[in-house]
Amino acid sequence: MYLDFFGFKEQPFNVTPDPKFLNFSESYQDALAYLIYGIRMRKGFVVLTGEIGIGKTTVINALLERLDDSHRISSLVHSNMSLKDMLRFIFRDYGLDASGKSKSELLLNLQEFLIRLDQKGGNAVLIVDEAQNLRSWQLEEIRLLSNIETAKRKLIQIVLVGQPELLHLMNSLELKQFKQRVSLHFHLTTLTQDEMETYVEHRLKVAGYQGKRLFEDGALEEIYKFSEGIPRLINAICDRALIKACVSGHRKIDRKLLRKVM
Ligand SMILES: Nc1ncnc2c1ncn2[C@@H]1O[C@H](COP(=O)(O)OP(=O)(O)OP(=O)(O)O)[C@@H](O)[C@H]1O
Ligand SMILES: [Mg+2]
Repeated sequence: MYLDFFGFKEQPFNVTPDPKFLNFSESYQDALAYLIYGIRMRKGFVVLTGEIGIGKTTVINALLERLDDSHRISSLVHSNMSLKDMLRFIFRDYGLDASGKSKSELLLNLQEFLIRLDQKGGNAVLIVDEAQNLRSWQLEEIRLLSNIETAKRKLIQIVLVGQPELLHLMNSLELKQFKQRVSLHFHLTTLTQDEMETYVEHRLKVAGYQGKRLFEDGALEEIYKFSEGIPRLINAICDRALIKACVSGHRKIDRKLLRKVM
């Protein structure tokens, strides 16, 4: 509704992860570099954690765009599935036939596939998003997959992505063995206020805004207090502020207006 009022070509603060709007501050660039390094160096397990709405899935989407064709990628969003179900998804993503096979046959076939891929110079990647919801026995099963290796290297790189509870889960006693296998862990940190301001500016620009400065300093301070530098919350509050400004005929957003929508 406010598109014409402000002269936007599209909504600047949509919550869908559109790559056009990507704005990679230092922590995101580092996260991406860590993930790429872990995969290229065949570290076996790489873990990415961060608060709700901070941009973990966004980083993973950026990662998928950056891995070249030598990588075979399976990307799962965890929902309560057994190893056998998980293997079926992995088979589909790797273009293998899983029909009518038992769990042990699937594991054997996967191993054969990974060895062939490795011989051809390829690298297999498995990404499990929302991994904080995994039960410890499920994490243990995923660990079994990482056992597929040659004397020299891991044949499948597993990227676990989740909210900070994932760390608690990994720290639990029965998973000590699992934790020892994780060679790389990166925790995404919230945006600083400067980074948030760059983030907001960037989104307005990409959405086609060409007018005068829209958010005043006082408003930006309020947005930062409210969002604590979490992108999803920044988007939500900015969107509400734009609607309110449009409805009340304001072309600028100040502290007072911002407080009304918090
Ligand atoms: N670096 C970024 N550049 C641009 N937009 C971003 C960035 N990070 C996050 N966002 C925005 O914030 C929203 C939330 O990000 P995302 O869904 O990746 O968070 P998440 O950490 O995966 O959340 P959850 O814990 O709920 O899974 C995205 O839809 C996107 O609009
Ligand atoms: Mg996510």
